[in-house]
Amino acid sequence: MAPSAISTIINNSSTSDASNTNATKPTTPILPLEAGLLKKFEAPLADVPGIARAFEVIYHSLALTASNQFLPTPIRALPTGEEKGRFLALDLGGTNLRVAVVRLYGGDGLKVCTQRSWSIPEHFKSGAAEVLFRWVADRIGDVVGEYLGDVGSEERERILSEGMELGITFSFPMEQTTHDSALLMPMGKGFTFTTTNDLSSLLKMAYDDLLSTTTPAHPLPKLDIVSITNDSISTLLSAAYLHHSTENTRAAAGIIAGTGTNATCLCPVSKLPASKQPTSGPSTGAILVNTEWSIRGTAPPLKPYTTTWDVQLDLENEKPGFQPFEEMVGGRYLGELVRLVCLDLFSNVPKSQLPEKMKLRYGLDTRLCSAVEASVNDDEALSLLQDYFDPDTSSTSSTATATTTTTGEDPEGWKWDPPSAASFRRISTAVSTRAAALVAAATIGVLGVNDELKRHAEKEVLVCYTGTVLEKYPTFRERCEGFMMEVVERWVVEGRIPPAPSGKRRAVRLAEAKDGGIVGAAVLAGMVKEGRT
Ligand code: BGC
Repeated sequence: MAPSAISTIINNSSTSDASNTNATKPTTPILPLEAGLLKKFEAPLADVPGIARAFEVIYHSLALTASNQFLPTPIRALPTGEEKGRFLALDLGGTNLRVAVVRLYGGDGLKVCTQRSWSIPEHFKSGAAEVLFRWVADRIGDVVGEYLGDVGSEERERILSEGMELGITFSFPMEQTTHDSALLMPMGKGFTFTTTNDLSSLLKMAYDDLLSTTTPAHPLPKLDIVSITNDSISTLLSAAYLHHSTENTRAAAGIIAGTGTNATCLCPVSKLPASKQPTSGPSTGAILVNTEWSIRGTAPPLKPYTTTWDVQLDLENEKPGFQPFEEMVGGRYLGELVRLVCLDLFSNVPKSQLPEKMKLRYGLDTRLCSAVEASVNDDEALSLLQDYFDPDTSSTSSTATATTTTTGEDPEGWKWDPPSAASFRRISTAVSTRAAALVAAATIGVLGVNDELKRHAEKEVLVCYTGTVLEKYPTFRERCEGFMMEVVERWVVEGRIPPAPSGKRRAVRLAEAKDGGIVGAAVLAGMVKEGRT
């Protein structure tokens, strides 16, 4: 995609909506200051295939050398789709905890029952991991209690005497050699636990603690932790369970773009050093790896495109240097990047006149960027910005009068106006488009590690995904898929990968794995119980 891609995207998205009248006519000319800022984010769009190649090279090397990336798992196969059973499933992410009961019906799909979700209170993210896990155990108790209330008395008695089997999805790096235990590794997304504990023991201890406080009127069953895995892996397993590879498609990778970002693929053991290869079972074949594609080692391909705002965001992060890629694409950071760029755009405005949230670290929620990008015109964008930054004094009327421009000083104070709202929308689009391009390039890079694109030229490659950025951010998925196709087409022309037979187009598509964390946790538990991992 050429460097003018961002303006193309803005124009295309607006022309596709007849009501988007303001967005189709440029409301104000883009001032040189803003044009300069936008250009920094457009830079990678000029060479997405080259970035994908750089990712591929670095991922090959990280698979061989990194101790904290391309982490091996004990999983050697994708589900057959025949797995059956009823499992308690837990998905502990960077922002939310979800607990549910999942029924797998083999060839007949699955059902998610009694699903509940909570946002994780900020204060549990630092300090002792035990405190977070006690809260998690309590939430498990809530869901199990509710489920017991919903089932018939016979089923209830059976569960209380036999216990429940639990599958866990954990959205952080882990060291794992068996399905039912996992050693926590350093975590991102604002989590600052320092201890390296076994997740399984932490949860068991917390749940046993809860069991010791139950009363005969509200009993809870014992839990058997069957499996633990990363959310990228759950995503791939859940999608593969529901949509097997067919004659025409192949589920080849799982990616996450939500609060954080990550990917998994089946990696031939020959691409891994002896220390990452399975110690038992056949020494050939492939295993699922948790790439942790955002951690430090991934930095080299990003270096040429790292802006001063990326550097600032990183320096102010809880763990500078830990996840440079995530800081450019993760939902936790997109809003913060936009805020930092806006501070430069509005540098002529006295700081005291800027809205408080604009001056606060993480004061600009990524959801606002998403809403502004989805807004039908600049007036709606303006109302959203006024409501968010200045709810007490904002007028939600689209005729709100501007008191200044983005660079003007005004004795009455600075206020959002149509030109500044339009600038905000362009900056937000630039930041999210760069993110979509980088996720696309990294995805193709991961597919290079297992030679996925060199084989199966006749099949459409499916990259299964979850995460709020891919699921909810307007047109992020489409932008990402567009960049992936651009890379694939270029690589076919360059002879790096074979063309599809009979003149068909080679395709890599994104496929949503709905509730991937929860469903994948249960699917893996089912695979383990049936001895098919
Ligand atoms: C974590 C990964 C996780 C990803 C998406 C990253 O911060 O390190 O383990 O898969 O976020 O949730």
